[in-house]
Amino acid sequence: MRPLIAGNWKMNMTKTAGTALARDLGLRYAEQAERDYDLLVCPPATIIDAVGQALAGSGVFVGGQDCHAAQDGAYTGEVAAGMLADLGCTHVIVGHSERRQYHGELDLLIGEKAKAAYKAGLIAIICIGETEAERDAGDALAVCSRQIAGSVPNTATPENTVIAYEPVWAIGTGRTPTTGDVAEVHAHIRAELSRHMAGADAVRLLYGGSVKPGNASQLLAVPNVDGALVGGASLSADDFWAIAQSCV
Ligand code: 13P
Repeated sequence: MRPLIAGNWKMNMTKTAGTALARDLGLRYAEQAERDYDLLVCPPATIIDAVGQALAGSGVFVGGQDCHAAQDGAYTGEVAAGMLADLGCTHVIVGHSERRQYHGELDLLIGEKAKAAYKAGLIAIICIGETEAERDAGDALAVCSRQIAGSVPNTATPENTVIAYEPVWAIGTGRTPTTGDVAEVHAHIRAELSRHMAGADAVRLLYGGSVKPGNASQLLAVPNVDGALVGGASLSADDFWAIAQSCV
């Protein structure tokens, strides 16, 4: 499967710094002969337009970090999926654990956001993953099953959906699961998806949580890992590029 390396910039980057980072990545990607992987950056909404312009013609995709479930309306401060598409976005992250944790987002709403993404012609990157307490309790697989059942719409296809497994305790902590644990969860996610949709074998499953240049090759070599969702390390062109080169 063609891997996807995605950078989630979260609430970081000014317009100046973000466009400089984008230009740097765009040049490297455009000049690369072997581009057997997709590259995506998800900047904060305020600079999506500028970053998209900086990446124009490079082949690097731009995405949003979240969208509202409604098409438009009186939702102060929110961004609709169609607005992201209007700026040239191809993807949108939904259900990131930081949205689940700090904004109380539940599976059902995340599924509605994914549907809004489909309606706007965007690929939804649906995030799932257990907390540390859930892992310690032996519930990691059950949590992923529940999140898939609740947040992956029955209209999901391999073309409109990517699943990102991000164990909450691995995000921004420098800790990662063992490759054996990642293999177990990703195989489980694949099996669960096949209960909910056709063509689950072709859905890209990303691993996210403290992916760095030093561990990317190992993590990306795990069966059923079809790419990475990178936070902190995606803010550095050198680090993000080094991670992407693990696919070459
Ligand atoms: P880190 O790579 O900083 O751990 O963040 C992962 C993440 O949350 C990506 O969405």
